[in-house]
Amino acid sequence: MRHLLEIDDLTIDELRDILARSAATDLEPSLTGKGVALVFEKPSARTRNSGEMAVFQLGGHPAYIQGAELGFDVRESVEDIARTLAGYYEVVCARVLKHSTLERMAATESVPIVNLLSDQSHPMQALADVLTMQQHFGDIAGKTIAYVGDPNNVWRSLSIAAGMLGANLRLAAPADHHPSQSDLARIRAAGGDPEISQDPASAVKGADAVYTDVWVSMGEAGDADEKKAAFSGFTVTAEVMREADPAAIFMHCLPAHRGEEVSTEVADGPQSRIWLQAENRMHTARGLLSWLSG
Ligand code: CP
Ligand code: NVA
Repeated sequence: MRHLLEIDDLTIDELRDILARSAATDLEPSLTGKGVALVFEKPSARTRNSGEMAVFQLGGHPAYIQGAELGFDVRESVEDIARTLAGYYEVVCARVLKHSTLERMAATESVPIVNLLSDQSHPMQALADVLTMQQHFGDIAGKTIAYVGDPNNVWRSLSIAAGMLGANLRLAAPADHHPSQSDLARIRAAGGDPEISQDPASAVKGADAVYTDVWVSMGEAGDADEKKAAFSGFTVTAEVMREADPAAIFMHCLPAHRGEEVSTEVADGPQSRIWLQAENRMHTARGLLSWLSG
């Protein structure tokens, strides 16, 4: 049984297969007569709606379920919820507060589990990010992706995916928000080798893609003041973008906080690919589900 908790659950060939399916227009309707559970312990615009449409496009029935209704470890154990949902659904996809919830569901080996975002990773976002870059550049091997901001769930999955595909990775973040050695070891094991600095301008110099995400992720409201202070000076502005290759694209998983991690001018400017990224969430969800169920 296969699960997708992080991109490195896939081999490089499997990652390429999923990306090819994501771009295909002639997929078999592999979910006809079947259901996919979409469980959310946190809010979502893109992941829920792209997921629902992807299941529909494969002929299946998407079931949106609020995490609070299931009550992980409150109403019953995570494991018992997974085993119960396995009786109805072909795949269980979940956005969770704690990554360990996904690991415990997967450990029951009752149904394929897909991570729709945890505190640690966001592999479904990384699939869409890579597809967006492939559509722009073709092969992303040798392309330089500069990430300016918080090395969070989105950064981890993006770094693993882009590293597997041979891209050069750079990160600019304040020193006390640099990634852990275990994060770096995992990215290196996948094939990436991030260059890490505290200087957005040098990280972005000559880059092909400039990426950022919110400074305060869902569930981090208690750290908001500290993080906003720490990351001030790490906004992707037009001045920062001018350091990149003139043909560089700007990327953001969204939701965006214009005026914090990115200026309005950049988010809504000609180099921005944020709406294509958002649309690609549906195409890559369909590609992933086709691979899992096909
Ligand atoms: N990028 C992303 O996952 O968006 P949502 O939180 O709206 O699903
Ligand atoms: N890092 C953000 C991503 C949202 C899609 C968060 O976890 O809130």
